[in-house]
Amino acid sequence: MTAAGGLADGAIKPLYSEEAIALRVDQLASDIAARRLDDLMVVAVLKGSFIFAADLIRALHRHGLEPEIDFVYLASYDGKRVSRGEVRVLRDVESDIKGRNVVIVDDIFDSGRTLAFAKALLAEGGARQVLTCVLVDKQVKRASAITPDFIGFSCPPVFVVGYGMDLHNRYRELPFIGELTASD
Ligand code: IMP
Ligand code: MG
Repeated sequence: MTAAGGLADGAIKPLYSEEAIALRVDQLASDIAARRLDDLMVVAVLKGSFIFAADLIRALHRHGLEPEIDFVYLASYDGKRVSRGEVRVLRDVESDIKGRNVVIVDDIFDSGRTLAFAKALLAEGGARQVLTCVLVDKQVKRASAITPDFIGFSCPPVFVVGYGMDLHNRYRELPFIGELTASD
């Protein structure tokens, strides 16, 4: 069977279990809470981070925080496994972020372009401080100079899916994170 776009369907090799993710998300929330950021606004980068962000804000609540949440929808891929290099804003935040502490939440830090772009966008909006949090940090050569402030897992340079992350909008529903391996 062939997936849309002509890429062969692959097997999924589990990398991080549902339990491991839950534990790590709670630790990230604890690390964020330790920064004592008042007036916190969490900005999730759609679509890939929606499940992570949903779990993270509830973990932040357990750690005593009352974050507001907003979304940016950015596109950097055109359905291929390799980034084109340009980032487009499909939806900007609705909230006024002037003077606020913002934590941007994204699923994967790959070339770094998306997060660097999002950080610049929110800084331009007048945020007091813009911190960044990614669930998966892929160990690849970066196209940007930024380093995320909070990192869930460092993973090898493989294509991962699950827990919100996709290939052609598939596999987001998987409760774990796995490597999409090519089948032959
Ligand atoms: P960057 O701009 O190259 O850092 O790409 C970041 C975005 O590309 C992430 O937010 C993901 O949406 C997507 N992406 C990068 N690597 C993967 C992957 O292995 N699986 C699924 N999406 C990915
Ligand atoms: Mg993304």
